[in-house]
Amino acid sequence: MSFTQVPVRTSRLNRSELAVPGSSPQFFEKAARSAADIVFLDLEDAVAPDKKEQARKNVIAAINEIEWGAKTLSVRINGLDTPWMYRDLVDVLEQAGERLDLIMIPKVGTAADVYAVDMLVTQIETAKGRKKRVGFELIIETALGMSNVEAIAAASPRNESLHFGVADYAASTRARTTGIGGANPDYVVLTDAPADGPRERHWGDPWHYALARIVVAARAHGLRPVDGPFGDFKDPEGFEAQARRAVALGCEGKWAIHPSQVGLANAVFTPPAAEVEKARRILAAMEEAEREGKGAVQLDGRLIDIASIRQAQALVAMAETIAAAGG
Ligand code: GLV
Ligand code: MG
Repeated sequence: MSFTQVPVRTSRLNRSELAVPGSSPQFFEKAARSAADIVFLDLEDAVAPDKKEQARKNVIAAINEIEWGAKTLSVRINGLDTPWMYRDLVDVLEQAGERLDLIMIPKVGTAADVYAVDMLVTQIETAKGRKKRVGFELIIETALGMSNVEAIAAASPRNESLHFGVADYAASTRARTTGIGGANPDYVVLTDAPADGPRERHWGDPWHYALARIVVAARAHGLRPVDGPFGDFKDPEGFEAQARRAVALGCEGKWAIHPSQVGLANAVFTPPAAEVEKARRILAAMEEAEREGKGAVQLDGRLIDIASIRQAQALVAMAETIAAAGG
């Protein structure tokens, strides 16, 4: 271990993060009753420019009046390069009560962007005597943000999570895509020609580098890495595949742009019972080895290394958090 310790900033369930446009208040109650771990009320790209003012009012009323239960509640503000962002923060933090947990900052490009929002939020919290410090969710979705992701992750003690905004990232990098957050039939490698039969096309994940980079930056700073949207909500199989490869890389959750994606995300990001059971057996074997003063831990006739024990601890901790939240 390095002498530099990386404590987890704030731990909370983030398996599914449901996006709800602030201009569609008819969806708010349903979102509050959904199984999503986090709901974010959107003031940014799901809201048309002429609906921004009304959306802000809707969101403030929703935070104050709707019973959100045990959910984590977030608001996505507009970008720092728009004329709406300062009033998003001022109005929401001055008029909405303490129920708000997080502010989501889109299109973060530099650490100074986070600093600027932190400065404003800190002033408003102090001036208004808010007791609960809101945390930040940061969307990495531009080439600039991706190049500065390490500094951005370190930019504020409010930071909790880094999110991969694949749609804007594709726009920013000028990637050619066929849908939001999915695979691309052009992103393939062709095998050499075999003696018999055709050459094979092996599909790759065009988002692998971006997502992996976010996971590393997030974990190096004690933040949650979260995968962003999958646009085709009529393709649950496609969603699940993208969620599975995100969990395989280390992400803690994925956005749901439609309520039907919430259950899929919760299922994929909940550690499977068999894996949790095996992790518990690893930890029990470790405790037994410690009690008996043995250096090496064995399970089912195989040596367990320290890295596997750490993985088992993380898995069991996640399973316990999920169980405490009601499954
Ligand atoms: C999310 O904001 C995205 O651009 O994918
Ligand atoms: Mg975006």
